[in-house]
Amino acid sequence: MSLYREIARPVLFRRDAEDAHLSVLHMLALWQRLGVGARLAQALTHVTDPRLHVRALGLDFQLPVGLAAGLDKHAEAPHAWGWLGFGHAELGTITPRPQSGNPRPRLFRLPADEALINRMGFNSLGAAKVAENLFATRPFAIPIGANVGKNKDTPNEAAVDDYVAAIEQLRGLSDWFTLNVSSPNTPDLRKLQQPSAMRALVEQSVQAAGATPVLVKVAPDFVDDDLEQTIDAVLEGGAAGVIASNTTLTRDNLRDTARAQEAGGLSGAPLKDKATQTIRRVYARTQGRVPVIGVGGIATAEDAWEKLLAGADLLQVYSALIFQGPGVVKAIHLGLLDIMEREGVKSIGEVVGQGT
Ligand SMILES: Cc1cc2nc3c(=O)[nH]c(=O)nc-3n(C[C@H](O)[C@H](O)[C@H](O)COP(=O)(O)O)c2cc1C
Repeated sequence: MSLYREIARPVLFRRDAEDAHLSVLHMLALWQRLGVGARLAQALTHVTDPRLHVRALGLDFQLPVGLAAGLDKHAEAPHAWGWLGFGHAELGTITPRPQSGNPRPRLFRLPADEALINRMGFNSLGAAKVAENLFATRPFAIPIGANVGKNKDTPNEAAVDDYVAAIEQLRGLSDWFTLNVSSPNTPDLRKLQQPSAMRALVEQSVQAAGATPVLVKVAPDFVDDDLEQTIDAVLEGGAAGVIASNTTLTRDNLRDTARAQEAGGLSGAPLKDKATQTIRRVYARTQGRVPVIGVGGIATAEDAWEKLLAGADLLQVYSALIFQGPGVVKAIHLGLLDIMEREGVKSIGEVVGQGT
């Protein structure tokens, strides 16, 4: 019996999705302050096996599966993610100035599709407050990424200044920065993926970040060879890695046709193949020169394996956590070890970033 599926989920799913999300996050933040049972939790959730170790971005990741951006936008519970068995956590998206995001409701569950639709629109306490949260609670047991974006009222022509301002306020507090240019919920944000804008944004962000690696998170909705052009610009600008992918604007083959009408980005199971395809295309272009973090619809070890074979070095999960609870992280890690044994793979380093 799964405690989450049988007990916690029915209680949480009776509530508005964002209310449920906020109460879980506040609980985790409280848990982090008290620290009670952290060791016990870690003993229960962590998989300790050197075969799962990944070296990327100049960092040691003890486990390949991390938390995707968007769940802990303000760094309220960075320690708790390690206690729950994640190998890393990406926090944010963080905007330079505080902003409230789109009006609620802005987060929707589609249980029949194991999917979410969100149009949060970068609700952020702002980089100064997030920096304060990180400063007060560091150091962290797992690598931490800071995902940054621009404020809604900043026009695209001035977007670089916003990314640089966020990075400058957070510098020294995270192990990498991610430039989010792929959320569908900030008007025109995805236009920053166009090669000339992309290259300038990456160059100036890399300069502002100093020694901290800068990654770019891309959308899964590219047409023609636009993705390849974007990746070229990302590499020319000096980025240290690519995250593929963000949520999709497409609504293919959903069962919950009523909820499917909600505006926003779709995540979870229906995004899986699109995200894998995006990873494959990114890898074909980068050829392993920089690491790729694979995200989108990962709910099982088989899903994770597929992403690694497509060219990912590390993985992230969001939606599956909502539908399956935190046990999903350990299940994926243990399942990966089983698959590696089945395939005769001695260490995950043999497959990551290879792209088959
Ligand atoms: C409610 C919600 C909020 C999100 N917010 C962000 C965000 O602020 N920044 C970001 O880069 N991605 C954000 N994402 C996208 C996730 O990081 C991830 O790329 C996407 O959900 C696909 O992974 P999944 O299928 O495992 O959920 C958000 C996703 C959800 C469901």
